[in-house]
Amino acid sequence: MSASLSARTTQLSPVQRAAALRDTVIGWRRHLHMHPELSFHEERTAQFVYDTLASFGGLELERPTKTSVVARLHGVHPGPVLAVRADMDALPILERNEVDYASRTPGVMHACGHDGHTAMLLGAAKTLAQLREQLHGEVRFLFQHAEELFPGGAEEMVAAGVMDGVDMVIGAHLWLPMPVGTVGVLAGRLMASPDVFDLVIHGRGGHAAAPHETVDVIAVAAQVVTNLQHIVSRGVDPIDRAVVSVTRIAGGTAYNVLPGSVELAGTIRTFDAALREEIPQLFERIVRGVSEAHGASYTLRFDRGYRPVVNDAAAVEFMRRVVARALGPDALADARPSMGGEDFSAFLQRAPGCFFFIGARNEARGIVHPHHHERFDLDERALESGVAIFIEAALAYLDGGRTHAA
Ligand code: NI
Repeated sequence: MSASLSARTTQLSPVQRAAALRDTVIGWRRHLHMHPELSFHEERTAQFVYDTLASFGGLELERPTKTSVVARLHGVHPGPVLAVRADMDALPILERNEVDYASRTPGVMHACGHDGHTAMLLGAAKTLAQLREQLHGEVRFLFQHAEELFPGGAEEMVAAGVMDGVDMVIGAHLWLPMPVGTVGVLAGRLMASPDVFDLVIHGRGGHAAAPHETVDVIAVAAQVVTNLQHIVSRGVDPIDRAVVSVTRIAGGTAYNVLPGSVELAGTIRTFDAALREEIPQLFERIVRGVSEAHGASYTLRFDRGYRPVVNDAAAVEFMRRVVARALGPDALADARPSMGGEDFSAFLQRAPGCFFFIGARNEARGIVHPHHHERFDLDERALESGVAIFIEAALAYLDGGRTHAA
């Protein structure tokens, strides 16, 4: 035992290994950034990932779905299975950044940082493939397609069996709300379930000069939108968290015509399963009451999005130790939960795990635009932190029990 322990301690640290790959990882990220692809259409991206992984040697590669890639790294000793996930898809946004690695595909952009996620996981795979002798168990690298578009790629990969035998799963999001150099970890509820609704209010159209002969659905829709604000402010326990947003409203064609119907759509976000069930009932009660009060009718449909991301307490404790050891205790922060959705939750249905945030903001350099913004960018030093954390996590989880015994 002392021999292998001293062998480990005389080797490069995960931070040193990540630093050695700095330019390579940034190069991968910029290549992916220049060639973004939309959800479920990541053909070139998946091929690039596959070919790059193949060049490392020692990995067992697989294409579980058309545009996803899984790499298995079997340590020379038996042990547990750690899955690490990166998503790979881009968004339908016209990039406005003036950088030499800007998107070459007009109208498609890596505006959420998934290019960085993919590059970080490639960096970790390259390093860990050289450290097989130290690994007790398996590291499974999950390169996932289509995080941005419901029903999401994670569910498909899980159905294809990529989580079979996995003991713990981790994944990270490069995170603009947090400064570069910090890493946010949190036990329990981290990201919300992003459900959606479609509502049509039906009335009776007519001449705008004779409103008494119509059922004015524009006036009714305005009341509905206003009254829906009561759900969160008056209907939900203030200690709980929820969002109800009307994000689309469409109706009418002319100055002098009252339309016969108005369409509304939007999103409902919650963490809590009971609240997720309850809000649609409060929602429909308001729509029904307001519509009836004014002689209108409605059709209403709710569709479920991803499950909320809920981190496992033990996995979170493990990742806190990993982050503190890799980057120093000062880097570690409590993550602030987000009402955004993430289909990482599909992997968490199959194994306990931890999703966490890697700070990528840099005020001084103007890297401040939010996710999904046309000028979104990353402080690329964050990539190095991510690579170091993934390496440290794999070495710690697959160390044959030495760390836990120490
Ligand atoms: Ni994202």
